Amino acid sequence: MREGASAAALALLRAGERAAKERQHLPEGRSRLGDANEKTGTMPELRTLDDLDVRGKRVLVRVDLNVPMKDGKPSDTTRIDRVAPTIDELARKGARVIVLSHLGRPKGKPVAGYSLAPLAPALEKSLGGRKVAFARDSVGPEARAVAAKLEDGQVALLENLRFEPGEEANDARFAKALAALGELYVDDAFACAHRAHASVEALARLLPAAAGRLMEAELGHLAAALEKPERPLSALVGGAKVSTKLALLGNLVAKVDSLVIGGAMANTFLAALGRQVGKSLCEHELAETARAILASAAARKCAILLPTDAVVAAGLEAGSAAHVVDIEAVPAGEMILDIGPRTAAALAQHLEGCRTLVWNGPLGAFETPPFDSGTNKVARAAAALSKAGKLLSVAGGGDTVAALHHAGVAQDFSYVSTAGGAFLEWLEGKELPGVAALEAAAKA
Ligand code: 3PG
Ligand code: MG
Repeated sequence: MREGASAAALALLRAGERAAKERQHLPEGRSRLGDANEKTGTMPELRTLDDLDVRGKRVLVRVDLNVPMKDGKPSDTTRIDRVAPTIDELARKGARVIVLSHLGRPKGKPVAGYSLAPLAPALEKSLGGRKVAFARDSVGPEARAVAAKLEDGQVALLENLRFEPGEEANDARFAKALAALGELYVDDAFACAHRAHASVEALARLLPAAAGRLMEAELGHLAAALEKPERPLSALVGGAKVSTKLALLGNLVAKVDSLVIGGAMANTFLAALGRQVGKSLCEHELAETARAILASAAARKCAILLPTDAVVAAGLEAGSAAHVVDIEAVPAGEMILDIGPRTAAALAQHLEGCRTLVWNGPLGAFETPPFDSGTNKVARAAAALSKAGKLLSVAGGGDTVAALHHAGVAQDFSYVSTAGGAFLEWLEGKELPGVAALEAAAKA
């Protein structure tokens, strides 16, 4: 299934010139996509907007508008901006567009702070002023009335799907009630593809279904980075805990030529190798697991790159005196809060020898300067190589995007995913229910 999904995704990337247009440059002279696609002739392809005749039809579009909110307004509109092209294309083609999303985790009942109402004006803005009607329920009388009133080219947004218990339960009746609002289904919510929820999974089986442009771009770029990559392929994994990324590390060592480990999770590996890590965040109880990952990497000839120096301080408080030490000399009373300058320079050089990079997680406590220095330096090196067409860099997951924005280089990566959890599950090699449902729909 997963093989099929990635083949389908590669085929998508070729088919969807727009997917590339949607975002960022693939390095010049990269023949990978063409080559890979030649092998996918008999593999299933996902349907796209190109395969739907949408004029005059009610099209249900699942997007991920799960954006951070502050004072009742979105504080970051990236996810809204990234789905706008799909909604705009459908409207321009004369569809009657019904937008579906969740926000937060209201757990099956209406919660005022999680209403999608404030996102209607935000979406209008993203759509260049195109009007967005709002219905204060998702399968109730208001949704039905708003859907019925839509004319060709008009857009409506329904209330938070997670106000209904049927959404997270993947409930067939709830999915049917959604399906009754429209005639076609478009899934543009890659960031929700790891959730087998009604609007992502069951609904895809009830109406003719296709992937939206963002879904195409996400799947295409992830496949290009991990399934049929140009080598050498490196993965950079940071963040706090090994425990949350065990499956991911296990899957990556089987696929990549080198694995860079940074962030607090590097401390767990360093400790497992007998280094003193002082007061650093460290999962000492995972020493055995860390050694098993290292052994598996060695068996598969995957090089592991760990820090050789570190920035340490007595604590994370801004202003606590930070200094650089060799990794063999971490003081007992201090903690590692970033990779050191020698490590950062070595990683920048390492990237020069790579053709593809998958990045997940920061290398240090980047939210608190000066512990952002290592992440900044390595991110800037990756961005510069990508911009020069020498590296295909794909980044995603939780803190990662924030770290790249902080470094000021997100726009220079080859591709930045909108997904958090779904990106991680993809890196783990798991089947994503939302993608599987689209695949099944394409075969039906
Ligand atoms: C996300 O932001 O990861 C997606 O919108 C899914 O949200 P969830 O983690 O609450 O299911
Ligand atoms: Mg999540």
